[in-house]
Amino acid sequence: MRKGIILAGGTGSRLFPVTLGISKQLLPVYDKPMIYYSLGVLMMSGIREILLISTPQHIASYERLLGDGRAYGISIEYATQSEPRGLAEAFIIGAEFVGANPSALILGDNIFYGAGLIQLCSDAATKKDGATIFAYHVRDPQRYGVVEFDAHTQRAKSIEEKPTKPKSEWAVTGMYFYDEQVVDIARGLKPSRRGELEITDINSAYLQRGELNVEKLGRGFAWFDTGTHDSLHDAASFVRTIETRQGVKICCLEEIAFDKGFLTADEVLSRAGELGDGSYSDYLRRCVSDVAR
Ligand code: TTP
Repeated sequence: MRKGIILAGGTGSRLFPVTLGISKQLLPVYDKPMIYYSLGVLMMSGIREILLISTPQHIASYERLLGDGRAYGISIEYATQSEPRGLAEAFIIGAEFVGANPSALILGDNIFYGAGLIQLCSDAATKKDGATIFAYHVRDPQRYGVVEFDAHTQRAKSIEEKPTKPKSEWAVTGMYFYDEQVVDIARGLKPSRRGELEITDINSAYLQRGELNVEKLGRGFAWFDTGTHDSLHDAASFVRTIETRQGVKICCLEEIAFDKGFLTADEVLSRAGELGDGSYSDYLRRCVSDVAR
């Protein structure tokens, strides 16, 4: 079974003073905590065993919010990262959890949305060998890992972390699917010049082995990382716009669980009861009655 890791540590320094007293990935993005959006994508991929990694000071808040995952028909374990030593450290902290299984890593401050996303993630999750990552066309590639594609084959040719002169405008997004080699690759990494274990180095290792598949997320997709005041506000506005216009929610965990068969109708209704009378629980009741109709 493929295991999922959510990385929700870091310092969130670009959001200071907002994140002086709270973990960034617990901040609301319109009507739900930010962490729901990444957890929802793992669930859409069919992943039900999840490890959430955050800082020692914030981990208890995540446990309070998400518990053992039963409310969403999944299992959630928790681990801490004492310092932000890089994304690739997730596989060292999570080595025992991952074991000899394939895995997926998603960053707790990334939001993905678009038609076909479930199919794309499920396909990546069912691939047996190698790695699958996703690239998104951006205006400011130097802030990200950047993929260069071969003009003929359209396969990835190089990946560079935060290059000053990017070779393309395709940024690597914060969602990565790996086969069982990833823990060993992560253990063999040396910290980069900025002192971090770089996810780009894991991706480059797969690229060198000829085992890296890069999927482009085209124009119909939205990808936000919510690390700055403006991007957080933009993401919340986006979610509000879609949700109010269409009357459907983005990354409602209980709805995803219901669709995937992780929760029964009765379990969704009892969860709605626990959440009281707000618009979120009304929505859960509607999800169940819409299917029944
Ligand atoms: P960043 O946005 O690079 O870092 P940050 O969240 O600490 O924010 P800032 O730059 O404003 O200080 O991290 C991306 C995501 O990965 C975010 O969800 C935090 C998480 N992260 C970890 O959990 N551990 C780490 O070692 C690093 C580097 C990031």
